Amino acid sequence: MQISQGFVEELKYRNRIDDVISSYVNLKRAGSNKVGLCPFHSEKTPSFTVFSNTETFKCFGCGAGGDVITFIMRAENLDYISALEFLAKKSGLEMPSDGDHKSEIVKRSRMHEMNREAARYFNKMLYEPCAEAARAYLAKRKLSGAAVKRFGMGFAPDNFNALRNYMNAKGYRDEELREAFLCGKSERTGKYFDYFRGRLIFPIIDNFGNVVGFGGRATDDETKPKYLNTSDTPVFKKSRNLFALNFARTACEEYLILCEGYMDVIAVNIAGFPNAVATLGTALTSEQARIMAKYTKKVIISYDSDEAGQAAAKRAIPLLEEAGLEVSVLKMRDAKDPDEYIKKFGAQKFRELLEGSRGKFDFLCDSVLKKHDIENPDEKVKAAHEICALIAEIYSSVERSVYIAKAAEKLSLEAKSLASDVERIRRRKQREESGEKMRKIISDTSGYGDRINREMVGNTKAARAEETILGIIMLKPELFEKVRSGEAPLTAEDFKTTFGRRIFEAMEKMQGKVDIGMLGAEFSVEEIARITDMQHRRAQLAKNDETVLYDSIASLKNEKHVADSGDELADAMKIIQSKKKTVK
Ligand code: CTP
Ligand code: MN
Repeated sequence: MQISQGFVEELKYRNRIDDVISSYVNLKRAGSNKVGLCPFHSEKTPSFTVFSNTETFKCFGCGAGGDVITFIMRAENLDYISALEFLAKKSGLEMPSDGDHKSEIVKRSRMHEMNREAARYFNKMLYEPCAEAARAYLAKRKLSGAAVKRFGMGFAPDNFNALRNYMNAKGYRDEELREAFLCGKSERTGKYFDYFRGRLIFPIIDNFGNVVGFGGRATDDETKPKYLNTSDTPVFKKSRNLFALNFARTACEEYLILCEGYMDVIAVNIAGFPNAVATLGTALTSEQARIMAKYTKKVIISYDSDEAGQAAAKRAIPLLEEAGLEVSVLKMRDAKDPDEYIKKFGAQKFRELLEGSRGKFDFLCDSVLKKHDIENPDEKVKAAHEICALIAEIYSSVERSVYIAKAAEKLSLEAKSLASDVERIRRRKQREESGEKMRKIISDTSGYGDRINREMVGNTKAARAEETILGIIMLKPELFEKVRSGEAPLTAEDFKTTFGRRIFEAMEKMQGKVDIGMLGAEFSVEEIARITDMQHRRAQLAKNDETVLYDSIASLKNEKHVADSGDELADAMKIIQSKKKTVK
């Protein structure tokens, strides 16, 4: 996927990084840079910095970094080409019509059209005689014509070739249908067949109004599996989409209601709460949490009241908090899920439930109390320990004392003794954390545990030299041609780590001017953050001239490569041992 550098330059010129980021983050000037609260992790003091001179950003808290394109990839959850398209649209630029990426764009929009056509077909089938059972099922679940229309629901006939024949006639090839997960292909016979058969269909629609995938529910409660979902395709990533976000995103100023599944979202929606979403047959991901944080400040988890639902709620809390969201959890009695609750008690009662939802502490505290019989002394001690551990996690001391009082009441224990336990746990944690920090310093200096450049271990000296070289080149691109010519030119083969070599090779492909914006197709956003870092670290040092550059090249050429195998761990331990003496 090659895109012209001229285009990327023009795009970046029209989308100045401060302007673009300003619509996501409240930026304040700090010297020649600007700072704000990081949109990629939760923080109270700003460590997110935008560098106007290099047109890059970096968060000193979570490590995210890159240029305006990387920012959009992260903030909008887009891949490289889609991020380019996004910025192009924003600044009134046409995507270039040459190059390989063109086929990528064409393919994508064709897949969108194909999905829309399939959705239309499924919807039409819902009114055919073959869908009688499906219509009966809808009636049983009290889903009106209005609900069907609002969600574009449909029916996939119980036939191996119904959709396939229809789509073939519309000019879509079997292989395309397979790629979009509308068809499967038998390994044995090589025949294509409809993926969704005899199922109610829920189209999944993204924020741009594109149909990106489908969920299909059996029309009875016996068929297994109950749901089938589109797997990841070129236009759909389950982990990056939320069902009904297309409705919810404009109705969630106050909060989002996070449900377990399609049926709950639809029931909640038609009861008058358009601010409901659900994940798509998987557990909540941190990407989905970040997407929610883009639209709202608070999430009310409304999972099923059974054990599985409550356990899933517990796992979702830290993900949502990490994204900076306030979290509370619905306490639902006498109904297994929001759908059933609304049917039994009505929309008004559900609203009261939402208003009375418990904060995270109450929810977690309740789940501890549910586990232990506090009439039994041993169990009571266990419960108290667990609750103290929960309170110890709370940052604010005022909040801690409020919850200590609450817990003392629930457990009928003295607040004083709970408080001293909480403090003990906090002190132990602080000790552990400083040990953790120490270990991190050691592993950072030795390269052990480096996830981005795994060959750092045993090659630290070479890797450092590589970072210096690449950093200076990014800072002073005019030196690039110079080091590649002359008597002992720097070549890709000189690089000892694959990561360093890949960056150098990517630079070679650029048209004389090194630009981070060109890396998105070949490097992950984490890798780009590291590359941006190399530039920043150099920028902060006083000396970045040719002497430093040539010294590093000489040092790199003299280093031997340590193969990325064998005694990696032993190597790392040796280094850690030797550093330990110097750090302490
Ligand atoms: N799910 C799935 N595959 C299954 C079961 C569930 O992908 N075999 C996903 C679906 O996204 C579903 C969600 O998990 O919406 C919640 O599951 P469940 O509570 O079992 O389904 P409901 O949405 O409540 O559907 P229904 O009320 O029709 O049983
Ligand atoms: Mn359910």
